[in-house]
Amino acid sequence: MTERPKKVLIADDQQDVVEALRLLLKSESFETQTAASPAGVLEAVGASDFDAVLMDLNYTRDTTSGKEGFELLTQLQALDSTLPVIVMTAWSSIPGAVEAIRRGARDYIEKPWDNHRLVSLLRTHVELGRALRESARLESENQLLRRRDVPELIAESRAMQPVLTMLERIGPSEANVLVTGEHGTGKEIVARWLHAASPRAEKPLIIVNAGGLSEGVFESELFGHVKGAFTDAKTDRVGYFELADGGTLFLDEIGNMPGRQQAKLLRVLQTGEFQRVGSSKTKRVDVRLISATNVDIGQEVADGRFREDLLYRLNTVEIQLPPLRDRGEDIAALAAHFLKRQGARYGTKKLTGLDREALRALQEHPWPGNIRELEHTIERAVLMAAGPQIRADDLGLRTRSDGSARLEDMTLEEAEKHLIQKALGRCQGNVSRAAEVLGLSRSALYRRLQQYDISE
Ligand SMILES: Nc1ncnc2c1ncn2[C@@H]1O[C@H](COP(=O)(O)OP(=O)(O)OP(=O)(O)O)[C@@H](O)[C@H]1O
Ligand SMILES: [Mg+2]
Repeated sequence: MTERPKKVLIADDQQDVVEALRLLLKSESFETQTAASPAGVLEAVGASDFDAVLMDLNYTRDTTSGKEGFELLTQLQALDSTLPVIVMTAWSSIPGAVEAIRRGARDYIEKPWDNHRLVSLLRTHVELGRALRESARLESENQLLRRRDVPELIAESRAMQPVLTMLERIGPSEANVLVTGEHGTGKEIVARWLHAASPRAEKPLIIVNAGGLSEGVFESELFGHVKGAFTDAKTDRVGYFELADGGTLFLDEIGNMPGRQQAKLLRVLQTGEFQRVGSSKTKRVDVRLISATNVDIGQEVADGRFREDLLYRLNTVEIQLPPLRDRGEDIAALAAHFLKRQGARYGTKKLTGLDREALRALQEHPWPGNIRELEHTIERAVLMAAGPQIRADDLGLRTRSDGSARLEDMTLEEAEKHLIQKALGRCQGNVSRAAEVLGLSRSALYRRLQQYDISE
């Protein structure tokens, strides 16, 4: 591949300087264009793309103030802040160079210049500028993708059909939705899908781990605060409710919210009004609520741990996601989906898919409820695979002919992870109860959840 030529705009009102620079840069394989005035520079930059501008600061004979140059710099910066500009100062003026840099110049060089230094400075800034522009381009591309991002939701299995029907029916509506399901069954992806399918799609989707906010910050995170409301409140802060105005607020893990916080949230949902902490001004926002939990919320209500009146506000519609073990028919499509995603991450490998044995191994594996485990298995297989197709060995699944994993085939760590996952499954993801069942303290269990990358 031949490299794109480095294109530099040379700007100076002294013809001999311009000519000398042009010859020098040409001999170093730069492509050049020249301008003799600030207007000429702006015109050239407006008309085509440059990798760098090398410009003098003074354009009116006899002045050495650099004023025209500084103005030009500001204008160039406004036009394209990623364009590297290097200024030349005819006199040995450090303040002039400092001011130029403050106005966005990347570097400066003194006249008369040293050829070698000038060329190497230009090369460096051309490379840096290209990298900067590429990342700016990727960032704006990402923003576009984020905005239009209707996530791909795989749902071919029979167990997912009622979910699909429900999603299509309520997606465009304003209904508050509660999404329930075990760990890693796709609650968040469903929330994203609902938002993207609604007329609010162009507005923000704000995701909050409502169950993870401590008493001290709950109100200020959700509703915001004003400067001075408490010791750490050094500035005003906009809360999640306000950030989500016009869009969707996704309250995750609501099953873990303590009673006092449930009461505060309920009051806001009932009245539709709230105040920032430390302010008496009442605010109203237009927000669609989607919430999610992996605990059996009906049981939490029955046990008096979750307020029924709050549940009633949240679950205008409830979507129950089936666990992966009930979605066998989705495994092939999910595996292909994750392979595509992982393949894009590890772009160097060209993987065409799974061979037949590998697919059968995936389908026969006794998956727990969690789709993320399937995702991790595929990720590992992408790393392990040597050929164009993933083979059963690459998956690293240990299975018996009857399809269930055997403790004695596992390493100690795998066995521990396996037992923890089983306990969490049995306790519907309730960490306290799972810890009890396993005979561990809650914090000891949390440590292991982190260690094995198990999500609660
Ligand atoms: N139907 C689906 N189609 C495609 N990918 C899915 C689907 N369901 C889940 N996933 C993927 O599985 C992973 C776990 O899903 P997600 O994070 O939505 O689950 P969750 O229920 O919110 O999990 P947790 O309880 O741990 O918070 C994500 O990478 C998600 O993209
Ligand atoms: Mg989640």
